Amino acid sequence: MPDTPEQDPYFDCLPVNKQPSIRVLAMPADTNSAGDIFGGWLMSQIDIAGSILGHRVTNGRVVTVAVNDFQFIKPVYVGDLVSIFTDVNRIGNTSLEVAIVAYAERKRKVEECTRVASARFTYVALDKHRKPRQIERD
Ligand SMILES: CC(C)(COP(=O)(O)OP(=O)(O)OC[C@H]1O[C@@H](n2cnc3c(N)ncnc32)[C@H](O)[C@@H]1OP(=O)(O)O)[C@@H](O)C(=O)NCCC(=O)NCCS
Repeated sequence: MPDTPEQDPYFDCLPVNKQPSIRVLAMPADTNSAGDIFGGWLMSQIDIAGSILGHRVTNGRVVTVAVNDFQFIKPVYVGDLVSIFTDVNRIGNTSLEVAIVAYAERKRKVEECTRVASARFTYVALDKHRKPRQIERD
């Protein structure tokens, strides 16, 4: 995925023909002391979205082992509808790296959408003993 608006004319546009892993409304309870949405809340939503793809791809339980990259691009505000999209970057023996992009549709301005964060998370597939599990390939 291109990383800047210069590289990608659709940088701030919701992807078309693609479903988000999750879509969630930013609520007042998720704010920091300044009244904006807390960065940790967005990180946690991004982790959840990535793990959903990890679970699908590995057909079972996954755990987050690393945050390889995380960029907060724009703030999230109360009332924003946050949509998080995921793609597999790489599949290893027991791990996979997921590319994740979050967009916010601003409150009462559904036509205004902006990219708020991008990240790469690594998940490890676990077996019932909590040990790394081989990922089956098609
Ligand atoms: C995930 C966990 C089971 C891996 O155990 P481990 O003994 O380190 O396993 P391995 O060394 O065999 O590594 C497993 C895979 O993870 C990858 N990996 C391990 N650490 C990594 C890191 N820091 N970054 C990227 N990949 C990593 C390895 O490369 C390997 O991938 P591969 O099999 O595709 O080649 C263990 O580290 C763990 O339980 N961590 C805590 C996870 C957790 O609680 N997450 C939530 C935090 S709130």
